[in-house]
Amino acid sequence: MSGLAVRRLSGALGAEIQGVDIAGDIDNIAIATMRNALSEHCILLFRDQKITPAQHIAFTERFGPLQELTLGSYLHADHPEIFVVSNKPVAGKPSDTRNTGRHWHTDMCYTPHPCRGSLLYALEVPPVGGDTVFANMQRAFDTLSDGMRAMIENLRAVHDLSRVPDFKNRDPEATRKIVADNPPVEQPLVWVHPDSGRKSLLLSEHITCRLAGMSDEESKPLIDYLIAHATRIKNTYRHQWRAGDLIFWDNRSVMHCAPGDYDMSDTANRRHMHRTTLAGPKDLLGTTA
Ligand code: OGA
Ligand code: MN
Repeated sequence: MSGLAVRRLSGALGAEIQGVDIAGDIDNIAIATMRNALSEHCILLFRDQKITPAQHIAFTERFGPLQELTLGSYLHADHPEIFVVSNKPVAGKPSDTRNTGRHWHTDMCYTPHPCRGSLLYALEVPPVGGDTVFANMQRAFDTLSDGMRAMIENLRAVHDLSRVPDFKNRDPEATRKIVADNPPVEQPLVWVHPDSGRKSLLLSEHITCRLAGMSDEESKPLIDYLIAHATRIKNTYRHQWRAGDLIFWDNRSVMHCAPGDYDMSDTANRRHMHRTTLAGPKDLLGTTA
């Protein structure tokens, strides 16, 4: 495919892929180029896309099998492969996904098999704000001291979904089910990227509640330090969305956060996104804590 260009977005991570129409025919060479660019830059941005849910799903499948999503009430009615991140009321009630991702997190770190990545497509965005920020977790690991890397490399951490602060604002029944379906899990604190062999930190604010074998209180200073280190401004890329943007992130090398930096009291400020999710490999070690 001619005309594909890769343009970096920030010093820390991210690249825009130019010259690709996701709704059109894309050859395997272009897909391989994108796969390599994702491994190198951690997130890919595609601008000015006009895609249907079916085209969004078909493009995602070029990179691997989709994750089966279980959060019934958050999914697209006709395409359960799509998770709807939206502040549009659902059946007259505030949507449960209006505050998705308000803290720094790695998607599905609270499951035995965290997903490989996600493709988030913006259909409607507020005129100002509604950004998403990404942090490079490989760079975060690489820029720790030798001593710290050696100390943490073989640690494991416990991830507990019930700690998500926003759950208190959501539908209690749906939240109870999500928590019951996802008991705490233990994962390596440092995981190795299967494509590049690079190491990164597997963390989420709030959800990563302790290091295996230690108390929450003992673990907190180290977890807080690693998250603060990883999310220093120079280690991030902040995306200001335009309708028609699609961002593909590699969930094994980034954390992300939606700061909610727009006026949610103004109901004219719509933020409506569709997300597909790539299933993680079943061989990533993970055990129920
Ligand atoms: C997600 C997520 C953040 C956003 O979809 O996993 O965290 O900016 N979204 O909508
Ligand atoms: Mn997320």
